[in-house]
This record gives sequence, structure tokens and C-alpha cells, in this order.
Amino acid sequence: MAEKNATLTLPTGEVIDLPVLKGSYGPDVIDVSGLLNAGYFTYDPGFMSTAATESKITFIDGNQGVLLHRGYSIEELAEHSDFLETCFLLWYGFLPAKQEKIEFVSNITRHTMVHESLAHFFDGFHHNAHPMAMMCGAVGALSAFYHDVMDIRSERDREIAAHRLVAKMPTLAAMCYKHSLGQPFMYPRNDLSYAANFLYMMFGTPCEEYRISKAVESAMDKIFLLHADHEQNASTSTVRLAGSTGANPFACISSGIAALWGPAHGGANEAVLVMLEEIGSVENIPMFIDKAKDPDDPFKLMGFGHRVYKNFDPRAKVIKASCDAVLAELGVTDPRLAVAMELERIALSDPYFADRKLFPNVDFYSGIILSAIGIPTSMFTVIFAVARTIGWMSHWDEMSSESYKIGRPRQLYTGEPPRSYKL
Ligand code: CMC
Repeated sequence: MAEKNATLTLPTGEVIDLPVLKGSYGPDVIDVSGLLNAGYFTYDPGFMSTAATESKITFIDGNQGVLLHRGYSIEELAEHSDFLETCFLLWYGFLPAKQEKIEFVSNITRHTMVHESLAHFFDGFHHNAHPMAMMCGAVGALSAFYHDVMDIRSERDREIAAHRLVAKMPTLAAMCYKHSLGQPFMYPRNDLSYAANFLYMMFGTPCEEYRISKAVESAMDKIFLLHADHEQNASTSTVRLAGSTGANPFACISSGIAALWGPAHGGANEAVLVMLEEIGSVENIPMFIDKAKDPDDPFKLMGFGHRVYKNFDPRAKVIKASCDAVLAELGVTDPRLAVAMELERIALSDPYFADRKLFPNVDFYSGIILSAIGIPTSMFTVIFAVARTIGWMSHWDEMSSESYKIGRPRQLYTGEPPRSYKL
């Protein structure tokens, strides 16, 4: 893989050759692993310039706004594929033939129920517990049901674990919501699509028939698809790091859910709606823009900016179109929407945001759609977690199928030098 070398001159004058690795697409990567022999580590807070692993799953070019899953652009997948087909693609590396897709969908559909004992776990949560807190607990608890029965070195066992998780996540997510309402849990329905079944478990009750609008079902599926994977982001890296210890995959996914929860990552879609409510009306926007620009104010415009995309977020482009369509179809008039649209207009024309390449990201629009569908704000990040499960599992599987080392970063120590204990 290394066709050329970079050289590094150390303060001692020693010159070290560092292989430059060539990927199949995108920038070259300097292999610094040999530095350890010379007694040095690299320092890169936030992993801004560090490739933590080699991967064949997802490619991002942040400057060009490109996102590819297994080589296919997110725009093409959003137009021609659906969520479960994208799951198949991420996991197996190729698009399914017709029969393969039927079998995959049937497999996922037949794993949607959770063990009845799991329902009792929810009794331990207060009714107003945050659903992400319940998800961390419930998904981690799955490891208690599937621990001794799985060998992570077995390809087939890893595949079954992925099928189980992708299938059970919507069930657990809906259980979190139902618990907060005090309504009975709804068993999954195998005659419905993945998205429709989720909406049914969320909004259906045993008392009356629940009708699912096609527009809402399709918007839900698109939100799942657009969030399915995103390279080595914070939660995926967390899953890989936890997985590198050989831990149970359900526990690893629980750690990914915890990492996703933060407002700088998956929690941003929830934070967007909270921010829109706080802004309240269009007249207040300039004041909040000033706060966002003030270096002494910690306030940031939620749903703006991205660590990797420094031009535009391709998912945001797709979802913006979907957002417009859903709102038109549902005829929703939400005062927060007027604030969102004006905020988007002002921020995009303000030099502060233009100079820093800050533009609305996927979460800016997904929060608005979810809100129009009637999903409560606190469930937004849970829905992100449902969608991202296939990405987490695909990365965990990629790592587990090869020989790997435990993830163990080093540090630049700036504490006390050795000192004596004085009596
Ligand atoms: N509002 C105002 N200023 C901002 C914002 C924002 N949303 N984001 C970044 N900046 C400023 C930041 O203060 C800094 O300014 P300066 O150069 O004057 O110090 C500059 O832009 C560069 O920002 P950074 O914090 O160094 O960028 P980062 O790559 O470390 O952070 C981010 C990326 C996504 C954490 C950040 O943009 C942010 O907190 N955005 C709001 C939260 C959000 O929407 N997150 C969802 C990301 S998309 C979903 C996902 O993939 O998880």
C-alpha cells in the first residue's frame, strides 16, 4: 500500500522514514506507527488529522460535500434505495439482488420482538427519564440476553447480532416513548415496513386502528437512511474502541449511544428545536446571531457547522428537499419553522458563518421534520441511534473480522514531575 515515504527530522537530527499509505480514493495517509520505536508519540487533540483505522465502508470528502457508502453517493441512495437496502449495502458491501433483499427484510422483520423480561427493565425508570438514558440501559441490557450464545470471532454470530440489533432498536425506542406516556407497549407488526412499524409502535394504541400516512412513512425512512453511517465519527469511534477490547457488541452499541447523546453530535437535532423555542420569534434572531458570534459566549447555533464538511453537508441538501415536501403534504404550520427558515437565511448571508464555513447540517432539517411528524423532541436522538446502529455494527464487524489491536491512545503529560512524599 505504501508507494512513497515522508521523512521526519527529529530534534536529535535523526531522520525517520514514514510510509505514505494510498487509499483507494481520497487523500494519502502518513503511517506514523513507527515513531514509537524512536520514542515519540504524535499529538492531535480531537483527532483532527488522525486516521484511526483503515475502512472500506464509508468515504467522506468534507471539502467537496461528498458522502459515499460502499462507493454509492448518498444522493443516489436517498433517491433509489430505502433504509433496509442501505443497511444491507453497509453490512455486506454490495447492493442486494431482489431475492437477497426479500430474505434480508424478512430476517430483520422476524427479529423485532424483544424478550418479555426486558419490558420489566422499564419499570425501574421514572416516567420522565430521558429516552436516551433508557436506550443506553435497554440496549446494554440486551447483552445480558445474548452473551454466552455468541462468539464474536464467528462471522455468522456477528451477522445474527447485527440483524437482532437493527430489528430491535425501533422496538426499544418506541418502548422508551410509551413508558414516558404510561401507555402499553405495542408489539411489532410484521406486515409493516421498517419505518411504518416504528411509527405504529410509537403512535398506535390497542384501542383503535392507527393509520400511517405514506408521506410520513417515506420521510421517516429517509431520515433513517440519511443517518445510517458517517465514517469514523465520535460514536462510531467509541463503538470501535469499546469493541477493540473484545466486549459484547450490545454493550459496545450502548457505549455508542452514550457518545451520540451529546449536543455536539447526535444530540444536535434535539438542541435545534430547543434553540428555536428559545429564540421564539423572528425579531429575536439578530440577538442570538450576536451571541453565537461572541467569543466569550458559549452559545452556538445548533444545527450549524460540522467537523468534516467545510463546504456543505450532502445529507442536509437531500433532507431539506424532503423537509419541504413533508411540510407541504402535512400542511403543518409551526411558528418554529418561520424562525428556522429566517435563521437559515441570515446565517447563510453573514460573513462570520461564511468565513468559518458554517452552514446548516443534517440535524437542522431532521429536527424540523421529526417535529412535524409529531415526534417529541426528546426522542430525536433516539431515532438517530436507531438509524446509526447499522453503521456502528458494520464498523464493529469490519474491525472484528480482521486482526486488531486494543485501542489505546497515549498522552502529552503536563502534570507534576516525580516528587517525594514528605512526612
Ligand atoms: N455557531 C457559532 N459558531 C460556531 C459554530 C456554531 N454552530 N460551530 C463552530 N463555530 C465557530 C467556532 O466558535 C470557531 O470559531 P473561531 O475560529 O472564531 O474560534 C469556528 O467556528 C470553528 O469551529 P470549531 O468548534 O473549531 O469546529 P469543530 O470542527 O471543532 O466543531 C461542531 C464542529 C459540529 C462540533 C460545531 O460546529 C458545533 O458545535 N456545531 C453545533 C452543534 C451541531 O450542530 N452538531 C451536529 C453536527 S452534524 C451531526 C453529527 O454528525 O453528529
